[in-house]
Amino acid sequence: MAVEVMISEEEISKRISELGAKITNDYAGEELVVVGVLNGAFMFVADLIRKINVPVRLEFMAVASYSGTESTGEIKVNLDLKESIRGKNVLVVEDIVDTGLTIKTLRGILQQKGPKSLRLASLLYKPARNIHKVEIDYLAFEIEDRFVIGYGLDFDGKYRELPYIGVYSHG
Ligand code: IMP
Repeated sequence: MAVEVMISEEEISKRISELGAKITNDYAGEELVVVGVLNGAFMFVADLIRKINVPVRLEFMAVASYSGTESTGEIKVNLDLKESIRGKNVLVVEDIVDTGLTIKTLRGILQQKGPKSLRLASLLYKPARNIHKVEIDYLAFEIEDRFVIGYGLDFDGKYRELPYIGVYSHG
């Protein structure tokens, strides 16, 4: 088994610069609370905020779906926000929107906390598997339906450290 590069380090970096410029433009004159969703988004959020040129407060959340209740949309919050987001511009940063369940549920939880605005940035989106419609305001890459690893994404806890997004190949 070898890992094949799907999206290179250079492509990721270029796309993040573009997204950062767009976010900077959209929030000009405003402040932003960026909420990175652990663990998968740690690398993306670190690179993305370096390309955002408005004042940023960084928070992290960690969520997991309860096993056996995927269809009900219940998620367990393992790490919650430290400060209130009431009246704030919030940008949630995810690694991947697959079925959409995680982000749809998380969005609902955050919306209840009364932010001024709530938007989503995602590194990846797999339209083939999407069930729960969610609007991704800032999407880096749409990908085909393959299990990807690297640049924060894991397989069984491994490969998060790869600087590119890859897939297994049997070559
Ligand atoms: P969703 O709730 O189905 O949208 O799943 C989102 C979560 O599943 C992501 O935050 C990832 O942690 C994980 N995930 C989905 N697809 C992949 C993949 O191709 N590689 C690694 N993790 C994935």
